Formats: sequence, structure tokens, C-alpha cells
Amino acid sequence: MSDLLTVAMPKGRIFEEAVELLRKAGYDLPDEFENSRKLIIDVPEEKMRFILAKPMDVPTYVEHGVADIGVAGKDVMIEEERDVYEVLDLKISACYLAVAGLPGYAKKDINPKVASKYPNLATQYFKEQGEQVEIIKLNGSIELAPLIGLADRIVDIVSTGQTLKENGLVELETIVPITSRIIVNPVSYRLKDERIEEMVERLSVVVEEELR
Ligand code: PRP
Repeated sequence: MSDLLTVAMPKGRIFEEAVELLRKAGYDLPDEFENSRKLIIDVPEEKMRFILAKPMDVPTYVEHGVADIGVAGKDVMIEEERDVYEVLDLKISACYLAVAGLPGYAKKDINPKVASKYPNLATQYFKEQGEQVEIIKLNGSIELAPLIGLADRIVDIVSTGQTLKENGLVELETIVPITSRIIVNPVSYRLKDERIEEMVERLSVVVEEELR
């Protein structure tokens, strides 16, 4: 069995914070991480391979075992419901999921529409609220939907609140706080337990230090 540890990293806003955390945990990661468009970066000194995936795809790589470990937002974990272990809250990229809309929004009884990148999560949320809505799946720039009349409300990530503000939208309901997690393939966790536990241990020390 290969003792190479393959880690799926999310490209985009979580990436830099996750790399910083790994470096603080003592992993010697090359500058290539920030300055390259390569999708596979080998770090032979650490016996590690990093694959750079779309954030929403990280749990897929880990579930299929082509990555042993991944860094994924809780939002992605809720949406994707993959068969992976969630072993550590890295407490980075903190934000939350919310329902937003135009100011003065009043609930419509007929055919309310909600746009989101998270159709499963949004469906589940409105079911729990006892409200029947039509979910419209979008892949980004969700805030556009109520402005242009595609949907009445959105379910999306709020970080600084700037995007909502600049587009004249207001938060209507808070759904759930979000941070990034370390996820692990169940088979890898058994076969590479020592390496994975060591990594989780080193990262958890840094997470604790960062909170102080
Ligand atoms: C995310 C999210 C919001 C925005 C929130 O989008 O979907 O649009 O960030 O951040 P803020 O509260 O700090 O303004 P992202 O930038 O990832 O791009 P996307 O619209 O393509 O999903």
C-alpha cells in the first residue's frame, strides 16, 4: 500500500487559510501552492500529494478514495451528504448561511421561488420551516436572482455582508454557522490511521493556538 497521503484542497477563498494552517502545523509546502495553476502538487518531502478541486467537489474526491483527506466547508458537507468522516473543525473561513431578499419582503403564498447554490440544503430548510417553495439552482452570483426577478429570496453564504449590502438585499433568516472541516475517507482512515491521526493532531494544536 502506498504511504502517500493525498489531500483534496478547495480552490478559492478557503484555500489560503487552509495552506497557512498546514504550514503552521509544520508542513513544508512549496511556494508553488500560491503561484501555480497546477491541479496536482506533489510534496515528496512530506510524502504528500495535494489535489486542487472546486470546493463543492472535495467530498466527492474523498468519498471515492482518490483523496484520503479533504478540506471542506460545512455548507458543502450539508449539501453533499457524502459518506466521509468529518474529523476536525479547522475553525477557518467562518461565515454563515442565510435567507436573504429585498427589503420589505413579504412571504408570498403563491409560487415562492428561492435561488441557491445549495438546492438540497435549501429544500431541507424550507421543509423544516413548513413552507413550500420552488428552489432554483444557480452556480454563483446568487444575489442577482432577486434583483432581476428570477427568485424572491436566496439561500447563500454571508461572510462580511458586503455582497448583500452592495446589492441592496437584506438578511431575512439565519440558517447555520459555517466553518471548514477536515474530512477523511473511511477506508483511508483504517489503512493510513497513523499518518492521518498525526496530521489531525498537529492541526488541532494549531487550531487551539489560533483561538487563544
Ligand atoms: C460568496 C457568497 C456570497 C459572498 C458573500 O460568493 O455566495 O455571494 O461570497 O461574501 P460577503 O458576505 O463577504 O460579501 P463567492 O464570492 O464565493 O462567489 P460566487 O458568487 O460565485 O458564489
